[in-house]
Amino acid sequence: MAVPIVRRRTAALAAGLMVIASGGIAAALNSPSAAAATAGCSVDYSLNDWGSGFTASVTVTNTGPAVTSWNLGWTFAGNQKVSSGWNATITQSGAAVNAASLSYNGAIATGGTTNFGFQGTYTGTNAKPTSFTLNGVTCGGTGATTGGSTGGTTPPTTPPTTPPTTPPTTPPTTPPTSQPPGQKVDNPYVGAKGYVNSEWSAQAAADGGQAIAKQSTAVWLDRIAAINGVNGGMGLKAHLDAAVQQAAGQPLTIELVIYDLPGRDCSALASNGELGPTDIAKYETDYIDPITALEGSSAYSNLRIVNIIEPDSLPNLVTNAGGTAGSTDACATMKANGNYEKGVSYALSKLGALGNTYNYIDAGHHAWLGWDSNLGPSAQEFYKVATSNGASLSDVQGFIVNTANYSATVEPNFKVTDNVNGTTVRQSKWVDWNNYVDEQSYAVGLRNQLISDGFPSSIGMLIDTGRNGWGGSARPTGPGATTSVDTYVDGGRIDRRIHAGNWCNQSGSGIGARPTAAPATNIDAYVWIKPPGESDGASQAVSNDEGKGFDQMCDPTYGGNARNGNNPTGALPNAPLAGHWFSAEFHQLIANAYPPLS
Ligand code: GLC
Repeated sequence: MAVPIVRRRTAALAAGLMVIASGGIAAALNSPSAAAATAGCSVDYSLNDWGSGFTASVTVTNTGPAVTSWNLGWTFAGNQKVSSGWNATITQSGAAVNAASLSYNGAIATGGTTNFGFQGTYTGTNAKPTSFTLNGVTCGGTGATTGGSTGGTTPPTTPPTTPPTTPPTTPPTTPPTSQPPGQKVDNPYVGAKGYVNSEWSAQAAADGGQAIAKQSTAVWLDRIAAINGVNGGMGLKAHLDAAVQQAAGQPLTIELVIYDLPGRDCSALASNGELGPTDIAKYETDYIDPITALEGSSAYSNLRIVNIIEPDSLPNLVTNAGGTAGSTDACATMKANGNYEKGVSYALSKLGALGNTYNYIDAGHHAWLGWDSNLGPSAQEFYKVATSNGASLSDVQGFIVNTANYSATVEPNFKVTDNVNGTTVRQSKWVDWNNYVDEQSYAVGLRNQLISDGFPSSIGMLIDTGRNGWGGSARPTGPGATTSVDTYVDGGRIDRRIHAGNWCNQSGSGIGARPTAAPATNIDAYVWIKPPGESDGASQAVSNDEGKGFDQMCDPTYGGNARNGNNPTGALPNAPLAGHWFSAEFHQLIANAYPPLS
């Protein structure tokens, strides 16, 4: 993947983008007038009751417009408690119950039906609920007494828990054996182990990296074949099974990188992918759907599955799709055909509907989107995609910055507010008017912008710290000389790149902070998404069957382009294809780790 910098100094673009007010959609659905206007459903709720416990079979008929996901709400009249369910994620708060569709049964056409069920306990009476809402709208017909049918739904790929057809011989009096899924935590990293990918771990340990080989790194699903495993390697199921083993009954977070959009990596060539610009249907059906089915399997319902959503894609639409020196035709095409936006929305909605998944959208890095004139349009783009094509804000746990990049988490020797003899750090050549000088300040600034544009304040941020340590003998130990703002910044910065727009196999880089949960306010975790040791791109053209191109930003002899201020690339020589093991870079990362490895 590539992470180019293009700076905009004008805010003109912002004027063309609409900001949708926060809460507007929910408010419309819940308002009495909306409910009265569309009574789009009827519900058949049939009971199998043995006195203190029961099973309910609920069939919903959609008499309104087609829906792609559903939430059925009702309030129990008595003290009924749901203990487990099937074909829906059922949550209860007091007497109020919500049943949400799963990945495989969200769509109900006009006139179509869906069925789900649950088991519950009660004392006293077990009256049927008299009113239901479908996606916030009150249903017209209720309470029929006949049993429901399951017509109209697509069968799940793994069988749902089978509802008991006769009352259990021993009615459940104790707490439910399986909690209803769907109880997401605020920060999935807190109190959880991190999944260790045995394939990366073995490679790291065998190449001098024993000190970091037990760290958690992400699994990249970088092509359709990766779902089943490439060249006999582990596929998604094998990783999830291994994660269950490692969890050993405790909370565990496993990170999966969703990375196969049509026309992938439109501003660079090194991580071009297998799907052409128009292959959106294939992306949805052959890539996202099977991943959703696996992530949604009940075997993995206790894992906390973090999805890193499509690195670079939306940032490229904001800065590289027209109107700037760094724009590319490929990005303009992807903006015009809408397939990045459709694909990301689809991934968010499908994966977000599962009960134990956490979607983090890629948000570039500070030296890409950190200028105010890029930050505002970026937040608006993220909001648009998170509220279109079936996606909703609740499908987004947060955002990730610095994926596979090298920007420092914190520059310790200067702040954006410093000045030298009256000249601000923003005016230094290195900072170049950016509003941020490092990833943590950018993450916090972006989060604030996102919240003011309508995202909930529950969103959290991740920072990829795998390769941004910048230790070793070249690391400055204090601020630079105050001769000029440039001596001050250049003498003090730990990020030793030639230019902050350089992104490929950077000379001098080192392993950064180890994966850490909740390291700072509103930062959910430091994570290692790009597995250290894997190349960013080949330093010369290499023929391959992965769709990868040759990007000159990976060639140490190239003089640069508009996206890196026409500077040398700072890339290491003799690099293999993106994603392939690059031993020389790995050794450099180990040697320059910060904090150092003992
Ligand atoms: C790059 C490659 C991809 C690889 C990933 C992690 O983006 O294109 O194939 O899986 O890096 O190394």
